[in-house]
Amino acid sequence: MKKLISVALLCTAPVSLLMANEADVQKRVEDSRAVIQQFAQQLQGELGKAMKAGGPVAAIEVCQSAAPAIAEAESRKHGWTVGRTTTKLRNTNNAPDEWELATLQKFEERIAKGESPMGMGHFEVVSQNGREVFRFMSAIGMPSLEQAPCLHCHGENIDTKITAKLDSLYPTDNARGYRPGMLRGAFTITQPMN
Ligand code: HEC
Repeated sequence: MKKLISVALLCTAPVSLLMANEADVQKRVEDSRAVIQQFAQQLQGELGKAMKAGGPVAAIEVCQSAAPAIAEAESRKHGWTVGRTTTKLRNTNNAPDEWELATLQKFEERIAKGESPMGMGHFEVVSQNGREVFRFMSAIGMPSLEQAPCLHCHGENIDTKITAKLDSLYPTDNARGYRPGMLRGAFTITQPMN
C-alpha cells in the first residue's frame, strides 16, 4: 500500500524533481505523512474527548484552541510549517497560498475523476523567497457520520445551537454544506531543503 502511494506520488512529480535525490525526497514524504498522522490523531483525540464531555457545541471551542496549538507545536518540533488548509474556510488563518490552492484544485480534479481522497497526496520541491523548500499536502476527505463526527459541524443540516456558536466565533464561516466523500481540505507541510 505504502509503496503504491509513493509510486503514484513520483508519477505526478514535476520533472525538476527527477534531479533531486530520490531517496531524500522519499524520506521527506514518509516523515511528512508520519507527522500528519500525529497531528490528526491528537486533534481527533481532543475532539472526541470534548464531544463526549460536552457535546458538539462545547467541542467547537476545543477545536478552536487545540487545532492551531497542535499545528504550532508540530511546526516547532520539526522546524517545518505544519497546518491545515481548504478552499472553504472556517478559520481565515488557514487560507491557502498560491501553491496550496493549486494543489487543492488538483485534488478536486482527481476526486471528480473517481479517485478516493484517502491517502491522496502531492509533493513538490519549489523555490520560495529565494530558497528551495519541500512541500507536501495530504487530502482530508469528509467521512460519513458513522465514521467520524465531522458532519455535525461541517455538514448540510447543522443543528441550530451549533450554527449559532459557529456564527459567533467565525462570522465568515464557509466550512459547511459538506457531504461524505467530498474534499474537506488538506494537511500541508513545508520543509526547508537544507
Ligand atoms: C465540534 C465541531 C467540529 C467537528 C465535529 C469537526 N470540526 Fe473541523 N473545524 C471546527 C472548527 C471550530 C474549526 C476551526 C478551527 C480553528 O479555529 O483553527 C474547524 C476547522 C477544520 C479544518 C481547517 C480548515 C478551516 O476551515 O479552517 C478542517 C480541515 C476540518 N475542520 C476538518 C474536520 C474533519 C475532517 C472533521 C472530522 C474528523 C472535523 N473537522 C470535525 C469544528 C469542528
